[in-house]
Amino acid sequence: MAAVDSFYLLYREIARSCNCYVEALALVGAWYTARKSITVICDFYSLIRLHFVPRLVSRADLIKQYGRWAVVSGATDGIGRAYAEELASRGLSIILISQNQEKLQMVAKDIADTYKVETDIIVADFSNGREIYDPIREALKDRDIGILVNNVAVFYPYPQYFTQVTEDKLWDIINVNIAAASLMVHIVLPGMVERKKGAVVTISSGSCCKPTPQLAAFSASKAYLDHFSRALQYEYASKGIFVQSLIPFCIATHMTAPGSFLHKCSWLVPSPKVYAHHAVSTLGISKRTTGYWSHSIQIGSQSDCSSPWTLILWCQWSVGLSCLG
Ligand SMILES: NC(=O)c1ccc[n+]([C@@H]2O[C@H](COP(=O)([O-])OP(=O)(O)OC[C@H]3O[C@@H](n4cnc5c(N)ncnc54)[C@H](OP(=O)(O)O)[C@@H]3O)[C@@H](O)[C@H]2O)c1
Repeated sequence: MAAVDSFYLLYREIARSCNCYVEALALVGAWYTARKSITVICDFYSLIRLHFVPRLVSRADLIKQYGRWAVVSGATDGIGRAYAEELASRGLSIILISQNQEKLQMVAKDIADTYKVETDIIVADFSNGREIYDPIREALKDRDIGILVNNVAVFYPYPQYFTQVTEDKLWDIINVNIAAASLMVHIVLPGMVERKKGAVVTISSGSCCKPTPQLAAFSASKAYLDHFSRALQYEYASKGIFVQSLIPFCIATHMTAPGSFLHKCSWLVPSPKVYAHHAVSTLGISKRTTGYWSHSIQIGSQSDCSSPWTLILWCQWSVGLSCLG
């Protein structure tokens, strides 16, 4: 009892001596709350404007805006295939680039039959490095390429310490994730600049936003793509070119542990088809976006480490990564 009394007395003493600071602290609190509220309202407004409004109003005419042909790298599976299909549904003719000829022919035929558009294929293994680009340049010559989608990438077989990653895998990451996007832009951009229109979409990853331990080379390659796209946008926006950096989080593809419960949580981990539908609707509107509404909420909450969204995000990544292992 004596201890409680003395604590109460101590508390009263402290409260009396701090009285003059209370108003100042209240002002700081009010300022902080107002700032946070304004940020949340602005983020919410951007979310609606970017991810919902464009899908309500009539769809943009991508052929008129950018050109007749779209080139998609890594187009036989996952996001690349879904993105190609979404563009085809908007009437664009598609050039698919990937490493497996049979798969390419099958997907190209599927797209041509379903959407009644022209398709063409280029067989190229981006892990082969420099030698593949002359044939690609030749195949794309004289084509009105309106949209380039840099989608192809390789991932780790499972999260690893850097020294455990094989030298071959490191070269694949450099050649497929970094060199492919850079060289493909180098091939198609001059034509776009000449025609004064075009769009370059590069698919980076949420892992580009923060250093990701045990995915060091992969997340660094995605940071390269993000910075590369943003710098290109500064260089070429005035020349009529729209450059977009897409930074998705988990999508239900082969890259992210098929069969895991993540693939069943569709609002957090959309199918490639749903993702592509949302992402294409942001084309021409946002220079840098996750492409999907719930991923935008996740990225928005990353700066606030205590928010429940951050916890969900980290659980999602950890479970995703451990499933890969
Ligand atoms: N899935 C996700 O959760 C997620 C999240 C963030 C970012 N991303 C990014 O989104 C992009 C697509 O990912 P995804 O999950 O859709 O991948 P995916 O399902 O594994 O598909 C990859 C595509 O790239 C092709 N490809 C792979 N290596 C190639 C090479 N060396 N040369 C030519 N083509 C090659 C594959 O062809 P084959 O089928 O013939 O091998 C396939 O068509 C990547 O840039 C990835 O980093 C994915």
